[in-house]
Amino acid sequence: MALPLESVPNMSEGRDEATLAALSDAFGSPARLLDVHADWDHHRSVFTLVGSGEELVETLLAGIAAAAERIDLREHEGAHPRIGAADVVPLVPLEPGAEPAARGAALARDRGCGSCHLPDYRGQKHVPRLDNQPEDYLLAAMKAYRDNTRAGSDTSMNAALYQVGDDDLRALAHFLAHQTR
Ligand code: HEC
Repeated sequence: MALPLESVPNMSEGRDEATLAALSDAFGSPARLLDVHADWDHHRSVFTLVGSGEELVETLLAGIAAAAERIDLREHEGAHPRIGAADVVPLVPLEPGAEPAARGAALARDRGCGSCHLPDYRGQKHVPRLDNQPEDYLLAAMKAYRDNTRAGSDTSMNAALYQVGDDDLRALAHFLAHQTR
């Protein structure tokens, strides 16, 4: 079986909703789009996709064409330096079965989990460690926060997991449980 690949194309657009929607659409198939993170200040967006090599080539070409069509770099300014409308398009091999962890990593990045739990999820002061904890335990804790059946010392966790679906919680738990230092 061909190794699945992950790609995280960085596009020089983080503000215009219509362009972001068009890019998401183009990056949506035949590869699977796991996450979109748009950053207004950097005027940049990062898409996380996975698929076979063939699926990714087709999808990336469609996304890059959409970017070239819609993004005019002459009118672009943002905090991040850039060289193109489709700025960088890294590809990384994924171990078979690594898709949930890739999705979990993207979600954690997107939802800023590391801002409180620290970027390596080792926790600090009153914020608990998340890395390398049992997956079931993490999942149960997150479900309880999301469903408001567990009150934390404040509402930060209820907010962090607001409306996150069960599949995404499983992906987060899987990713965090497999973090090692
Ligand atoms: C604004 C800060 C903040 C953010 C952002 C945040 N957390 Fe937390 N998290 C906390 C605090 C504080 C606690 C402890 C809450 C309590 O008092 O029960 C906690 C607890 C947890 C726990 C329970 C751990 C345990 O051992 O009981 C899990 C799991 C967790 N967070 C996961 C996440 C995930 C996943 C994200 C991102 C989607 C996230 N957190 C984002 C502050 C944060």
